[in-house]
Amino acid sequence: MHLFNLKIIKKQYLALGMLVFVVLFLFNSKPAFQCQLTPDSSAYLPTIYGITPTYARLAQKADLTRLSQTLMLVKNFHWIVIEDSASKTKLVENLLKESNLKYTHLNVKTDKPKGSSASGVEQRNMALDWLRGHLRSPEGTPGVVFFMDDDNTYALKIFDEMRKIKRVGVWPVGIVGGMRVEMPLVTDGKVSGYNAVWKPYRPFPIDMAGFAINATLFLDFPEAKFSRKVQSGFQESEILKYVVTQQELEPLAENCTKVYVWHTRTQKPSIISPKKLKKPLVPDNHIEV
Ligand code: UGA
Ligand code: MN
Repeated sequence: MHLFNLKIIKKQYLALGMLVFVVLFLFNSKPAFQCQLTPDSSAYLPTIYGITPTYARLAQKADLTRLSQTLMLVKNFHWIVIEDSASKTKLVENLLKESNLKYTHLNVKTDKPKGSSASGVEQRNMALDWLRGHLRSPEGTPGVVFFMDDDNTYALKIFDEMRKIKRVGVWPVGIVGGMRVEMPLVTDGKVSGYNAVWKPYRPFPIDMAGFAINATLFLDFPEAKFSRKVQSGFQESEILKYVVTQQELEPLAENCTKVYVWHTRTQKPSIISPKKLKKPLVPDNHIEV
């Protein structure tokens, strides 16, 4: 009798234990199940098309390495790199391949006419032509276009900001134009003027790093491009005049009160000529720097 009771109790405990186990299992597995059903949220993020002209010099690989390793941390990023060169170089080709970034590698050599010192004009225009074709193709995804010098410094926050853009977004740029910070001034959520001392009469006194443009506008305005016909410092105004008015600019980075990008410039390295050395060095030409 006593033993029989014990058996029943044991069975009850066993059933209860199994029930707890099943409940715990279901409870535990639910979020994982949900996670599988929830699509990767990055699939809905607007693509950022970063357009970077670049040219061969001693610090090029250092600059591109730093930039590419920032970009590895940015979701839905497509890097359009255009070499200022008659042909593509192995250095840039390998750097892009090894980065695992989504990229498009182009090249066009600048033939600067007299009186025009601007860099990157032909390279950025080539990238915009490529982008127009891409956006019309089935692979083209909506997004924003950001013109990125290869030696600037970019905080990850700037990429979050620009995904909010409807038309054209603007923000402050650190260490540029002779200022600590060059920036749009904001009144009641609209750009009402600019803090700029270098050529303040520019229609848009903003550095290339201080804005991004909804990519669709390059389809709406197929004539929008950079030009060698404008004076130095007017490239930003040149491209912006096609797509936006001051009233339409969208101030980002907390109403243009935060610096998330800096116009840093890499110092030109000075190298001692091996010919000037008394003791000859072991040759290092086979080493890519
Ligand atoms: C400033 C602006 O921030 C640039 O956006 C603008 O293109 C440039 O002036 C200009 O119009 O000359 P800055 O630091 O003076 O920047 O220019 P760089 O960084 O030397 O050049 C801008 C981009 O063009 C870089 O990505 C650079 O690699 C590339 N570049 C420069 C070339 O492709 N070819 C060159 O001969 C020089
Ligand atoms: Mn630069």
